[in-house]
Amino acid sequence: MKLSASFASLLALVSFAAAQSQLWGQCGGIGWTGPTTCVSGSVCTVSNAYYSQCLPGSAAPTTVVPPPSQPTTTAPTGGSPPPSGSGLDSVAKGAGKKYFGTASDTNEFSDTAYMAILNQAGMFGALTPLNSMKWDSTEPSRGSFSFTNADQVVARAKQNGQIMRGHNCVWYNQLPSWVSSSGFNSTTLTSVIQTHCSTLVGHYKGEIYAWDVINEPFNDDGTWRSDVFYNTLGTNYVQIGLQSAKGADGNAKLYINEYNIEMTGAKATSMINLVKSLKSAGVPIDGVGFQCHFIVGEVPTSMSSVMSQITAMGLEVAITELDIRMTLPSTQALLNQQQTDYENVIKQCMAVAGCVGISIWDFTDKYSWVPQTFSGQGAALPWDQNLAKKPAYNGIVAGF
Ligand code: G3I
Repeated sequence: MKLSASFASLLALVSFAAAQSQLWGQCGGIGWTGPTTCVSGSVCTVSNAYYSQCLPGSAAPTTVVPPPSQPTTTAPTGGSPPPSGSGLDSVAKGAGKKYFGTASDTNEFSDTAYMAILNQAGMFGALTPLNSMKWDSTEPSRGSFSFTNADQVVARAKQNGQIMRGHNCVWYNQLPSWVSSSGFNSTTLTSVIQTHCSTLVGHYKGEIYAWDVINEPFNDDGTWRSDVFYNTLGTNYVQIGLQSAKGADGNAKLYINEYNIEMTGAKATSMINLVKSLKSAGVPIDGVGFQCHFIVGEVPTSMSSVMSQITAMGLEVAITELDIRMTLPSTQALLNQQQTDYENVIKQCMAVAGCVGISIWDFTDKYSWVPQTFSGQGAALPWDQNLAKKPAYNGIVAGF
């Protein structure tokens, strides 16, 4: 059969486009083996030696000169050191990880000193919204969606060349009462989950690296958490959420995110078994998030063992919400222990090739969730109340 000239040229265009990175996609950097040109309307722009990204622009598609094969910390001849060379994300990428990120949200965006750190080249390569993508923010009443704040977080990430982690689709908490107390039967609740996940994930199609589709499904003893989803649909709600997300953005990595799975035990075993059963049922699942809300001096030592059992099934893992709290007031001894603890957490991710990245749950004690939840505790993050770096910062660097 003879192809018409226009169809043949369309085919050529399609295969050319497939070999190019999409808008906001990665297009270069040390260790990058994917496309190095961008689709029309975007330009491959170097963020740092480890990450180039297709940013909007009218220039013709461009190719980035491949970066040096070895990370370098020396200044280019006749110039000053690359501005991004010393930040946590640069260090993480230099150590072979995809990103070092932070959570943040719009109510902090008016703090100029805070934003100077959030926006600093090479400091954070990924952003997670603390609250603005949750169900109570995005669908406060049935079928009425609001993305105003979440859109601002995504826009900020784009401006900074940061990838996004979406957080989250299905969670018992920060869930409006029209879902939790509705008395919906299984058919209606299925449709409610499908609408929520597909609209939320679809709104950001192509813009989110990974979604926490299911958040905190288990109790600490490894049994299923009793909430409206489990109580109405049994364990099926997990696949309903994952399948809806997959249909809305086939390229986003789909995660289940959980805490207290960072040590071997009943809860970690339940997560491993859940992943196994989802895989054998052909349900889309790409990753497991380890939240890592830890206590100074009590950081688990078996996390890499749990992580390895999950990556052995073909999934990736990530540290998604790291912080290490202490009883206040902080002392030099506690801050030093915290430094060691941060280092040890990073090392456990480093020990697992499939541990793709690490995010802290905001970066400064000024905005940490900890003091409101655990009375008398805090100082959990690497920057203090006054936005000065703590010893923990050096612990992170040392861990890589
Ligand atoms: O939005 C209201 C505001 O209108 C009101 O004036 C104010 C008064 O307290 O409350 C505001 O809501 C707060 C919300 O954060 C937004 O700031 C809630 O009270 C507060 O409970 C809520 O806390 C969040 C918490 O999740 C809820 O569980 C934290 O900021 C957020 O950091 C935390 O994040 C979770 C992850 O999503 C899942 N893993 C655990 C992690 C820490 O708890």
